[in-house]
Amino acid sequence: MPELARRFGGWYRKLGVPAPGSIQLRNVTAGYGGINVFSDLALDVRPGEFVYLVGPSGAGKSTLLKVLYGTVRPRRGSVFVDGVAVHRLHSWQTGKIRRRVGCIFQEFELLAHLTALENVLLPLQLAHPRIHDPQAYALDALELVGLKDKANEYPQTLSGGQQQRVAIARAIAHQPRILLADEPTGNVDSRTSSEIMELFHQLNELGGTVVMATHDEYVLSRFPARTIELQPGLLEAA
Ligand SMILES: Nc1ncnc2c1ncn2[C@@H]1O[C@H](COP(=O)(O)OP(=O)(O)OP(=O)(O)O)[C@@H](O)[C@H]1O
Ligand SMILES: [Mg+2]
Repeated sequence: MPELARRFGGWYRKLGVPAPGSIQLRNVTAGYGGINVFSDLALDVRPGEFVYLVGPSGAGKSTLLKVLYGTVRPRRGSVFVDGVAVHRLHSWQTGKIRRRVGCIFQEFELLAHLTALENVLLPLQLAHPRIHDPQAYALDALELVGLKDKANEYPQTLSGGQQQRVAIARAIAHQPRILLADEPTGNVDSRTSSEIMELFHQLNELGGTVVMATHDEYVLSRFPARTIELQPGLLEAA
């Protein structure tokens, strides 16, 4: 390991802050209203690792990803994502994590009145007002997912798989160190799902950390990686 990286790692350890690109959860309890979806959860993902979150419907995969993205605030415990103490962020500070992490939601939520390019560009401009040429970043991301020629089309004229790829371009346009993906192959055929997975593995090979929730047996067997299983029935009264 290069000397600087080694010293940098040591410095982080001394501060007690997990390194950039890593995820660390300790004793995390999260839920909604009167229920806890999971309690006392511990999780470590190393920088550059690829991890699947599995478990039956309702087990809490989406909830866990939302905790990592700062959308659901944990009731107890500590959550470090890319060196940021997410559990300490107030709701108005979640931009701090969104600037560092890319997220592909289960319902991919493209804005119907914006073109593919605008869907990628708008959140990029909001989160990163200082990027000099955001359009170039957005077009690069669309090119990476193979949709540069569809940049000026609206979501309703794109197939489900193409819309999913626009959502991926939106998540990676700011070149995040960590990518969170919630069943990104849930609504696409096996060919598109292989394309999406190859793209994720490319991002991973470039050094990105990927955490992906999935039910997709085809993906799990064809693209094996570490699997973290969330158990059902952990639901309990808060
Ligand atoms: N906004 C919410 N308000 C109240 N309860 C919720 C909310 N979102 C999820 N839940 C509940 O929390 C539990 C976990 O849901 P979650 O969406 O995290 O599961 P999941 O593992 O992602 O399931 P799936 O595989 O179907 O996507 C479920 O019992 C669900 O009903
Ligand atoms: Mg889910």
